[in-house]
Amino acid sequence: MHVFIIVVLTADGFIAEETNDISTRWTSKEDIRFFVKRTKEAGAMVMGSTTFQTIGKPLPGRKIYIYTRHPQDFAGYDPAEIEAVSLDPAEMVKKAEADGYQELAICGGASIYTQFMNAGVVDTLYITYEPALFGQGVSLFTEPVQKKLQLVSTQSLSEQTTLVEYSVIKES
Ligand SMILES: NC(=O)c1ccc[n+]([C@@H]2O[C@H](COP(=O)([O-])OP(=O)(O)OC[C@H]3O[C@@H](n4cnc5c(N)ncnc54)[C@H](OP(=O)(O)O)[C@@H]3O)[C@@H](O)[C@H]2O)c1
Repeated sequence: MHVFIIVVLTADGFIAEETNDISTRWTSKEDIRFFVKRTKEAGAMVMGSTTFQTIGKPLPGRKIYIYTRHPQDFAGYDPAEIEAVSLDPAEMVKKAEADGYQELAICGGASIYTQFMNAGVVDTLYITYEPALFGQGVSLFTEPVQKKLQLVSTQSLSEQTTLVEYSVIKES
């Protein structure tokens, strides 16, 4: 099972200006294209209910596991598209594997990135950097996260937008 974080950051390290902001308001079409392609390859996505609310609908060709303590709010959706969960990250990875997926895309927001990173289950980070500054806003993580990363590749998605892939060096 390969677990990856996929995130787009401002040049000053924020994932959103306001909590109820949808990311596509300030990100590039090239990053959206990468996000769609890479999450479709994985087939399975994890996101917090706040992030899902900014999107507001299922995403074609992908199953979304939504973290929430209010599963009844998501009962109206097709379970093949949306499933409410509240699992320890290691248990979530096992569940996705048991559901037939070989990759799991961790799609935020900050609370979800933090829990999965600190549980030690993340193998890879895809970080897109966009040429924007917010000064303040929603940070990538909500708590201290201390990991060593290895740079795998950098790629220009356009003249303005850079995608960086890191692998997480697992503690022995
Ligand atoms: N730039 C990017 O790439 C990117 C990507 C994703 C998100 N974002 C941004 O991130 C912001 C949202 O981040 P956020 O940290 O505020 O919210 P979030 O992580 O999207 O969602 C938080 C919610 O998830 C649920 N949750 C979290 N941990 C849980 C657990 N262990 N068990 C059960 N439920 C759990 C709770 O929902 P309930 O209240 O329903 O119980 C909690 O209120 C938005 O602005 C969004 O646009 C940016």
